[in-house]
Amino acid sequence: MKLKTALLVLSAALSFNVYAQAPIVIKFSHVVATDTPKGQAAERFKQLAEKATNGRVKVEVYPNSQLYKDKEELEALQLGAVQMLAPSLAKFGPLGVKEFEAFDLPYIFPSKTALYNVTEGEIGKSLLKKLEPKGITGLAFWDNGFKVMSANKPLRNPSDFKGLKMRIQSSKVLDAQMRALGANPQVLAFSEVYQALQTGVVDGTENPPSNMYTQKMHEVQKYVTVSNHGYLGYAVIVNKKFWDGLPPDIRAALDKAMKDATTFEKAIAQRDNDLALDAIKKTGKTEIYTLSVKEQAEWRKALLPVQQSMEGRIGKDLISAINKEAAK
Ligand code: LMR
Repeated sequence: MKLKTALLVLSAALSFNVYAQAPIVIKFSHVVATDTPKGQAAERFKQLAEKATNGRVKVEVYPNSQLYKDKEELEALQLGAVQMLAPSLAKFGPLGVKEFEAFDLPYIFPSKTALYNVTEGEIGKSLLKKLEPKGITGLAFWDNGFKVMSANKPLRNPSDFKGLKMRIQSSKVLDAQMRALGANPQVLAFSEVYQALQTGVVDGTENPPSNMYTQKMHEVQKYVTVSNHGYLGYAVIVNKKFWDGLPPDIRAALDKAMKDATTFEKAIAQRDNDLALDAIKKTGKTEIYTLSVKEQAEWRKALLPVQQSMEGRIGKDLISAINKEAAK
């Protein structure tokens, strides 16, 4: 009897010990390559978080849609199958948070400064708050860049888009944008874009150069137009229940790691995109064209009305508040 009790106590102590030592695992899933601004920042967060918590937290980063594609990863986060994501702001509509699609409005941000006025100010904070009823906590905005357009024909004037099948992310604003150019938008997961371009399922697409280059889209797109007609960025999000359940000291350490990873991410985004555009040019496979001032004016004329036509979906007040911040 004595021995049995001693064994029970020992085994309880051992299992408690194993439990106490098991690290908290954060599975961080994303859809882009590791050598993109988002991919590198996810790795930086992993390093900083593991160091700051002395290994009590382990961050497992799964890039390139290895675990989940766009729509699935949001469901996986809500179910708790992964703890952290950084979806592009164009992918929150299906979650029921349509306001994030404001970031997709053509020409809404004249510069990165204008963008930061929004993401780092009250508007950014209130947008992240809108995720909470969905069981999601928003931690930060990460940057990518302004988008280029690509196809297998030159895209200089809005009329060049007529009848083209253009891949878009799941955003109604991007749908409206492509329709305003006379194109037929088609929603596809990011992981499917290369093959869809290669096989002609779609004719063209849009993305910042870093995404285009790292997915080798330039191999199947002969023409890229530097149009800067719209922006692509991210919200870093966590499962709210998981986040709220963390020991407070761990959560504080992770918050700080995220702050530092965000500073790093914003510092590399523009440079990475400039380098990617140069690299695409150097392959000699794709002609890069920058819109003239006159052409830019024509694009703006075709695309600016999208801001107004999307007021019903996104909210007139939010669009004017963003425009006001952006103009500061
Ligand atoms: C996309 O085109 O789906 C990209 O925005 C993916 C990403 O996360 O950058």
